[in-house]
Amino acid sequence: MKAVVDFSLSQLPESDINDLAAYLQTATPPRETPPKPVSANPAMIVEGKRLYAANCAACHQANGAGIVDVFPNLAGNQSVWNGPPDNLIGAMLGGLIPWHKNGPAMPGFADVLNDEEIAAIANYVRTAWGNPGVADATAKDVLKLRETAPPRQIALADRDYLNLSPIGSAAARKLGCPLLSTPMSDPGNHWMTIMEGVTTDTLPNRTRALIDEVRKLYPNATREELTNYAVTAYCPAVAAEPGLSRSEKRAALARFRQALPALIAGPEHSPATNAGG
Ligand code: HEC
Repeated sequence: MKAVVDFSLSQLPESDINDLAAYLQTATPPRETPPKPVSANPAMIVEGKRLYAANCAACHQANGAGIVDVFPNLAGNQSVWNGPPDNLIGAMLGGLIPWHKNGPAMPGFADVLNDEEIAAIANYVRTAWGNPGVADATAKDVLKLRETAPPRQIALADRDYLNLSPIGSAAARKLGCPLLSTPMSDPGNHWMTIMEGVTTDTLPNRTRALIDEVRKLYPNATREELTNYAVTAYCPAVAAEPGLSRSEKRAALARFRQALPALIAGPEHSPATNAGG
């Protein structure tokens, strides 16, 4: 090297040195700071939380604590936040065989949730309840796993879908009805039967009856909670209606949501009927 410097580089005209310097600068790209882990946008996490409540919380509970010996906890569970999100996504796509003999299985959500939705739930679960994971799941990851995942572990027969309620029918699943949480599925509450066989004519009164029942158990239920209970109860009834296409069923649910605020307020609470005592 010394010879090169002494006899050649040191002798180079200044213009050549400049050219050489310019070349060296382009040949080695400027050093970058290491790529930051991708993190989901806050809206995705909010959506993930909503979808978790509708699809997972009935079993794994809203606080992710699960139920001892029946449903594993997701809060503080390394298998969901440590490493890449593949296992978590795989569990959602394919479902899982029961944890304990005679215990319930975990249903697969491959037909119920789309790629974005599964990624959103994964990112919520990886970062919720103090889980220190990275919200790096993307719809692309889900699609890739859909294509390569082994066949579903769980047969999606009606009774597999939900051991929680007989109303968790295949039709309800196809429509993406929310799963039933404990107070809804408790047969002692009769909440689900209130909506069975409901028609357009009977819907308003049945809805009021349902809301009254829920309020008996939860006097401080918020509007949002009441809305969720009502939609959860009505959805399987719409799903079971023969002769309606999927989009007509969705439209019926949307109309129901729109009508709910008035039904939740109830005529007995409106100023008009209360006026004058
Ligand atoms: C009907 C009840 C039920 C529902 C609904 C349900 N799961 Fe599960 N889940 C289970 C059961 C039971 C297991 C245990 C299966 C096993 O270990 O074999 C499980 C296991 C898991 C595991 C593996 C945990 C571990 O420690 O191995 C993950 C992750 C998971 N569920 C995520 C979800 C997510 C996310 C959703 C919502 C999209 C969901 N589950 C919905 C019942 C359910």
